[in-house]
Amino acid sequence: MAVLVCGGAGYIGSHTVRQLLKAGEEVIIADNLSKGHRAAINPDVKFYECDIRDKGALKKIFAENKIEAVFHFAAYIEAGESVELPLKYFNNNVYGMQILLEAMTECGIDKIIFSSTAAVYGEPEKIPIAEDDATFPVNPYGDSKLIMEIMMRRVSAAQGVRFVSLRYFNASGASEDGSIGEDHHPETHLIPLVLQVPLGKRDHITIFGNDYPTPDGTCIRDYIHVLDLADAHICALNYLRGGGASNFFNLGSGQGFSVKEIIDAAEKVTGQKIKKELGARRAGDPARLIASSDKARKILKWAPQFDDIEKIISTAWNWHTSHPNGYGD
Ligand code: UFG
Repeated sequence: MAVLVCGGAGYIGSHTVRQLLKAGEEVIIADNLSKGHRAAINPDVKFYECDIRDKGALKKIFAENKIEAVFHFAAYIEAGESVELPLKYFNNNVYGMQILLEAMTECGIDKIIFSSTAAVYGEPEKIPIAEDDATFPVNPYGDSKLIMEIMMRRVSAAQGVRFVSLRYFNASGASEDGSIGEDHHPETHLIPLVLQVPLGKRDHITIFGNDYPTPDGTCIRDYIHVLDLADAHICALNYLRGGGASNFFNLGSGQGFSVKEIIDAAEKVTGQKIKKELGARRAGDPARLIASSDKARKILKWAPQFDDIEKIISTAWNWHTSHPNGYGD
């Protein structure tokens, strides 16, 4: 039987496809290529260009293939944009989940592994953040992912679809051979933006605020390598195969790095001085986000391999230097 990866042409989806293939799984990709890249699709994998909101297209995939489980990466992810365009997020993310769950239940597919986010917590009540801490998202993106979790929980209780929701902290890095990596349009994430300075594509990096209650005044985040995230999805699949109940897990390294520390680490990795300027705070940025991933380590038997921020940044640097224009699409 195969697994269906919705959003398999995107950043985390494409790395997960690669790890699934390495683990010997049969993989099928569905992606509407609105954010994903054709060049990120493994040529050996059967690909359906389709939208997650198209139930007919999903049911065709389920009819033409024996699908054991669905991996759902096909959502919009920009918190800032979601504040301006909330309905765009509710349509693709929430309505997309509605259609996917309808298609799955109508076709008897009973396992889903979902790409959730630390954004479901909003401003955290304590650090490190645990899965049963309060969830109060501070933007429509976080709202949409929390609603998607609620939908899975209710459908799980009523119709027996089991899910694993993986709440990622700051996904970063790229495949070690530099063949696939991060390519967002527009790019909003810190590490790729910092690396654009030594790549000559950006004059400086703007630090969004240095008056946060942190040791150097800049925001602290928990950066987790994309291949470690990908591996967690395989652990989640095996957990569900072993009869595991529907569950939520944080995925982070448990270590926090400030914006300034990321820039310093990027200078070491690239061997270049990176020009920085101080800017205003970005709305909706919590001062510190650090995960407790004890639950994933214990229950999913997940063991992240990348525990060194310079190593993580060096994989991103390898990707960006070998693909200065990303996938070029
Ligand atoms: N930052 C800068 N300058 C920049 C870009 C970012 O100082 O040019 C700062 C941000 O203010 C933040 C940190 O770098 O303090 C990290 O920012 P990112 O945009 O890379 O990541 P976020 O922590 O904002 O967002 C990540 C995911 C989101 C998810 C969120 C959950 O990318 O999808 O975590 O909290 F919603």
